[in-house]
Amino acid sequence: MTIHTILKMGDPRLLRVAPPVLAFDTDSLHLLISDMFDTMHSVNGAGLAAPQIGIDMQLVIFGTDEVNPRYPDSPPIARTVLLNPVITPLSDALEDGWEGCLSVPGLRGVVPRFARVRYTGFDQYGDAIDRTVDGFHARVVQHECDHLVGKLYPMRIKDFTQFGFTEVLFPGLDAGDDD
Ligand code: NI
Repeated sequence: MTIHTILKMGDPRLLRVAPPVLAFDTDSLHLLISDMFDTMHSVNGAGLAAPQIGIDMQLVIFGTDEVNPRYPDSPPIARTVLLNPVITPLSDALEDGWEGCLSVPGLRGVVPRFARVRYTGFDQYGDAIDRTVDGFHARVVQHECDHLVGKLYPMRIKDFTQFGFTEVLFPGLDAGDDD
């Protein structure tokens, strides 16, 4: 079990466009994914993208089979490993929602995201994933996949009056977490 250091906004490695994964079902890939889940759980993250630990590849993980204490009002999303994702919006409708990011600790902001998307890609074994999702699930996958093209959620904020410190915006929410 290895908890990796999560890179913070300002690190140029968070701004790269990641290349696709070419080799599936390898020992090194399984180990990396296991370490990413350990890292994500250690900070109660909703998701984690490989570039956030300095690994330049199109790999994101998200979901947990339990309610996340950082997002107590959000429905659980099944534990997902997603490689080489492609997201297709299914309508132009956007939805505003609060987001945080382990690479932007202590802050939250309102970000518009496509309300309903289809996403495709592969799991760690190379099996195809093809899902149509909405709501929080759609938001999480858009947020995580943005990390693969060098985008952090503050770059998507339209209304900066809805951006600030978590402890001020949501007093009492998870005092134990640093993000
Ligand atoms: Ni993030």
